Formats: sequence, structure tokens, C-alpha cells
Amino acid sequence: MKKVPLLLNVNDEEHELFIDPCLTLLEVLRDELDLTAAKEGCGEGVCGSCTVLMDGKPVRSCLTLAVEATGSSITTAEGLATADGLDPLQEAFVEHGAVQCGFCTCGMLMSAKGLLLENPHPDETQIRRAISGNICRCTGYAKIVEAISSKF
Ligand code: FES
Ligand code: FES
Repeated sequence: MKKVPLLLNVNDEEHELFIDPCLTLLEVLRDELDLTAAKEGCGEGVCGSCTVLMDGKPVRSCLTLAVEATGSSITTAEGLATADGLDPLQEAFVEHGAVQCGFCTCGMLMSAKGLLLENPHPDETQIRRAISGNICRCTGYAKIVEAISSKF
């Protein structure tokens, strides 16, 4: 297929790419930009491990074409930490033992971040609803909910 130019803003950096228009955002992040925090679990919109923020809203990057992200601001888990250290949400996950194998963690963080950007003081029901599309096989979710609740 004929390649198309793509200007992609990821974690506040502009990337000029030339890609197959059929590529998903997940494929471009991982294979073209070497940003591997977003994971491919199911590849069909069910598990949430590929979640990133598009203009502050969580999206499934496996179901989003990269060309759809033109003009938007994409944030991946790599963009959460700063030169001063981890994002408070990342620290909370570590402190509360909310990370086990880690496969779901980056997607879970981005769903939680999206919630906190919209609602800085969510209750437990709102937290559970926000991460309901993120599957975790290890933690039983309680520690993840505690982590998200802990500092906000
Ligand atoms: S890999 Fe995208 S939802 Fe599972
Ligand atoms: S920590 Fe293993 S799937 Fe969530």
C-alpha cells in the first residue's frame, strides 16, 4: 500500500513519519517509535493493555489507526515520569503493590490518568468503572484501586 506522511505528537515530541495508512497507533508507537509501554494483548479492543491518552482521553491504540491521531496529542506511560521522578500515580502503584507481572500496568496507568484528569477526586465506584476495560490477571484489582485512591 502507498505510504502516507504522518505528523504525530507523542509525549510532547513531534514525529514526522512516512507510514502504511493501515498501521494502528499501537504498531506505530511500538515499531516505528520504539515506545513499548503500550502492549498488544488481545489486539481487538478487549484487554486494555494498549491504552494511551489521546488529547487526555483513554483510547485503545490497537483499534485506532495512526492516521486518526494526526493533530492530537498522544501520551503513553513513557510520558508520565519527568526529570524530577515518577508521576505520583506511578509511585502509588509501586507503594501499594499494584504491579505484579506488569503486563497490564501501563494501560491501567493511562486509564487511571485519564480519569484523574477529568475527575481529580474519584470515588471507588468511579475508579472501578474507569478501569473496567483493563484486564489484570494478577492483582485482583484491589491494590490497583487502592493505589489510584491513595493520593487523590
Ligand atoms: S491490545 Fe488493545 S485492547 Fe487488547
Ligand atoms: S499485574 Fe499482571 S496482568 Fe496485571
